[in-house]
Amino acid sequence: MIRLLIGFLLGIALTLLIAFCYVRYGFVDPRADAEVGSLESKIAMPALDAAVDRRASDAKNPVQPTDENLTAGMNIYQQNCAECHGDIQRRQNPFGASFYPRAPQFLEDAPDMPENQNFYIIQHGVRLSGMPAWGPSLDDQKIWKLTTFLSHMGKLPPSVSAAWKTAASAPETGPPKDSGSKIQSKEKKSMELPTH
Ligand code: HEC
Repeated sequence: MIRLLIGFLLGIALTLLIAFCYVRYGFVDPRADAEVGSLESKIAMPALDAAVDRRASDAKNPVQPTDENLTAGMNIYQQNCAECHGDIQRRQNPFGASFYPRAPQFLEDAPDMPENQNFYIIQHGVRLSGMPAWGPSLDDQKIWKLTTFLSHMGKLPPSVSAAWKTAASAPETGPPKDSGSKIQSKEKKSMELPTH
């Protein structure tokens, strides 16, 4: 019996050692443009969903899907997220496909997780992926507006869709028409940094 137990424990230790050496000595492919293996995505996606499900608070979204709130959410999305997740003019943004794991293209693959989970992912980001944590740069109210926008992306009122088309057509280099104050305050912040 003791021998069996020792054999079992040695087996586990050997497996862990092999896994450690595999990772530590460079057998894991580091390229972001490698093809995402089906086994990996079958394990990773449910693991991420389960981890978020376990951690996200069950706070209710305080932001109503009025035209005004949806337009506000759309503007925040267009400025911060469209580059990776696509928009009404570029449903498949090639930049989003340059990440590993790939950034989901929300007009093709709706962000249909419960709102408290979308809020959590936006606030905290996703470790070991290109998804940044937005908590440091967007306050809770803005993240809820984004969350409301994501939940309604596929069924936007015509006026919000029209505003989105205009926002998405704006030249990428110029600041969007209505965000002058935000850009200015960003510049101000970065100018203040060296003095600290
Ligand atoms: C630099 C690229 C990049 C930017 C900018 C970005 N994301 Fe992401 N996002 C990703 C990647 C990559 C993933 C996939 C992470 C994974 O599958 O592990 C992701 C995943 C997500 C998910 C989870 C989707 C799912 O089905 O699991 C949500 C929600 C999300 N992003 C929302 C946003 C929002 C909202 C913004 C803007 C505030 C944003 N992202 C900005 C790259 C980005």
